[in-house]
This record gives sequence, structure tokens and C-alpha cells, in this order.
Amino acid sequence: MTSARRALAQVVPGARRVLDENWTGSSTVPSRGLYPHQWSWDSAFIAIGSRHLSVRRAQRELETLLAAQWDDGRVPHIVYNPAVPPGAYFPGRDFWQPPPGATGAPPGVATSGIIQPPVHALACLLVHRADPHASLRSGFLARTYPRLAAWHRYLTGRRDLGGGGLVSVVHPWEPGMDNSPCWDAPLARVDPAPPEAFRRADLDHGAAADRPTDLDYGRYVRLAADYRDGGYEDRADALGFVVEDPGVNALLIASEHALAEIARTVGADPGPHRARAARLTAALLDRLWDPATGLFLCRDVRGGDLIPERSAAGLLPLLVPELPRATVGTLLRTATGEHFGLGASVRLVPSYDLRGHAFDPARYWRGPAWFNVNWLLERGLRLHGAAPEADALRSAALEAAAASGFAEYVDPYTEEPRGTRDFSWTAALALDLAVAAVG
Ligand code: SER
Repeated sequence: MTSARRALAQVVPGARRVLDENWTGSSTVPSRGLYPHQWSWDSAFIAIGSRHLSVRRAQRELETLLAAQWDDGRVPHIVYNPAVPPGAYFPGRDFWQPPPGATGAPPGVATSGIIQPPVHALACLLVHRADPHASLRSGFLARTYPRLAAWHRYLTGRRDLGGGGLVSVVHPWEPGMDNSPCWDAPLARVDPAPPEAFRRADLDHGAAADRPTDLDYGRYVRLAADYRDGGYEDRADALGFVVEDPGVNALLIASEHALAEIARTVGADPGPHRARAARLTAALLDRLWDPATGLFLCRDVRGGDLIPERSAAGLLPLLVPELPRATVGTLLRTATGEHFGLGASVRLVPSYDLRGHAFDPARYWRGPAWFNVNWLLERGLRLHGAAPEADALRSAALEAAAASGFAEYVDPYTEEPRGTRDFSWTAALALDLAVAAVG
């Protein structure tokens, strides 16, 4: 048996079991205990894997999420399952209730009011490609295209809070990397909500050492409550946290290219999407590229400066097709150098600088290696012709996913499981890599 076939045999039955057990009938929970509702970027990654099991199910996953889109175009980061008891997850659905008259979720759906990275157009295109004839017959892209276009309009319009042509995030949960050390300085300005104002449910399911701290949570609650009380208005001067993140913007660019392809397929004009992707690419290079560190950095829009921390989000612009050759070369050297160690001290890219002052191999986004980040980097390496590096990363991700029991994240050095197990996007993306490995 070739190593690719061995990987397939090791991964597929387990991945299928995780995805089947976490499927609710209309979407997939990231994890039965820790995250018992539908999450936005999780669902995009889950659909990318579940398309290999059932194209219809993958379509349903994405369409359930897009049906919760708000009038202003935002796709919420959580869609609540009404069958799950309110105390099972914090914050529950009532927390996000907007003030009277403010914008909110469509009737009959309960959602959060913040967003997550826009991987959805890319996911829709990949789900379509799994069976283009069935997809065209069912009208999948014709239904999702207008919603995806409205989502990108919201991001590039109301979320250009820095005024330089990039999307800003307004809460650490939005870029999906909740407790990244990149947020430490901007978060230090936020007055935490008092501990008695809320009860965390995550610690019922995960080790405290693998999760954000109570102080982080106090600040997450304050920022979310302030945004809600302001009617979810996107006004830079009224928000306590406004950051341009290279991961979010790189994913938007990759998705904008996917949207151009979707437009072409449904008979719409791809030109505006290509032009927008080009503008975003120029703004990304102009505002977030830092030649001195050889990495894209986050910008603190309120403070005005780049944040001097190395996060794996800064490598994600490898997904941008029109990145200049020299920038690609520098990013590759940074990925394989001492700070990220890819193919040298580690096999999977860590979420944060191995040499960083805040590095912690266990604590959520402060060091552990995550499977979605590594799946995205594998794709970026392949896009830019680094096939041997992409192959090595793919094999390592497949082995680590199966050996860790489809862990939420792993220690980047030992690859020991951290966080929860039977995590849906780990299973889905391992499945996708396994299918690609056998060609
Ligand atoms: N990642 C967050 C959590 O840990 C939610 O988006 O609950």
C-alpha cells in the first residue's frame, strides 16, 4: 500500500464517524460538548470536507448558515440551535439581543452579532466542484451567489473602518483566533466585565490551561456587550477594538477570486470581483506587509500602528494568487525559519511565534498548531509551486489528525492533543487532504 493510500485508510473511517456524529440534520456542530451550535467559519471548513461524503449535506451546511444572514449582509459567527439548552454555551442566544429598532437576525433565527473569517465563497466553489452537474441542476450557486456577494459588500463597505481598503474586525472572536498575543496590546485598553456578570461554560468541557483566561473572557464580554448596545453599528470611533488582520483579509481575497468564478458559472459578470480582489491585494501589501519581519502583521486601527507580534495569520496571504514572487519567497523563508519552524523544529505551523515572549504550546491560539491554518497553508504552498513543502505538510497533518483523535489543536512540538477531541473541522480537512493525496 502506498503511503497516500495508508493515510486514506487511517483517516477516512474516523473522519466520517466524527462528521456523522456531529451532524444535526441541517448543520454540523464543531464539537458536541464545547461548541454545541453552528459556527460560521467552522461550517465552511466542514463543508469542504463533507462534500466528499455527501454533496447535498455540504450544500445544506452552507445554506443553513447563509439563511441566517442579516439584512446588512453580515453572516453571523454563531447560529443557535433552539434544541440546545440555553446554559450549554456562553454567551447564549439572549446575550446578543439588539436594542429595539436596531439591525438583527432574520425572523425565527437566533444568532450572534459578530462575524468570522469569510471562507464561505471558497467553500461554496469547492462544494460545487465536487459534482458540478448535480450542483447546477440543484441551483446551488445561483442561490448562494447573491448572499455571498452581499456578505463581501458588507465586509468591504461597512467594515473598512481604517479607511485604507481593508476589512477590520471589532472583536477577538471575529478573526477566529480568540486569544492570539496580537490582541494583547489592543485588549489592554478594554475594561473587563466583572467576573460575576457571566458564567463560562467552556471550562465544563476543556482544560483551563488549554483555554483563554478569565481576564480575556471579561474583555470579550465587555466588547461584545458594547457592540450590541450600540445596535451593532460599525463606527470606528465608538468601538473599543478595531484591528486589520492579514488572515481575515487574505481569506477575503481568496474568496473574492472564488466569487468571480461563481459569478462566471451563474452567468454574472466576474469583472467586479476580480477588480475588488486586486484592490484588496494592493491594500494588504500596502498596509500590513512588514519587510523587517518578513511577515504580514496586524494593524491596530485605533492606535494606528502595526502590532509587533508574529502570528500564523501573517502567513495566510500565501493564499493570495497575485502575491509578488519576492513576497512569496520571503514568506516561505519565514515559515521555515526559527519563528515558525516548518519542516525543521516542527511539522505543523504553530499559531504563534515559537520564539515569542507569549508562546504557550497548550493555550488555544498562543502556540498550538491548528488544522485549518495548516490546511490553508498547504493550499497556499501548492498555489505558489512549493509542492515538496506542501506534500510534507499534508502527510504530517494527516498523521497528526488521526493520531490525536481529531483534536481541536495540538502541541506543535509533541503533536499531543489539546482542547477538545472529535473536532469537526479537523476531521473534515483531514478527509479533504486524504482524498487529495490519492489524487
Ligand atoms: N471561539 C469562541 C469560543 O471559544 C467562540 O467563537 O467559544
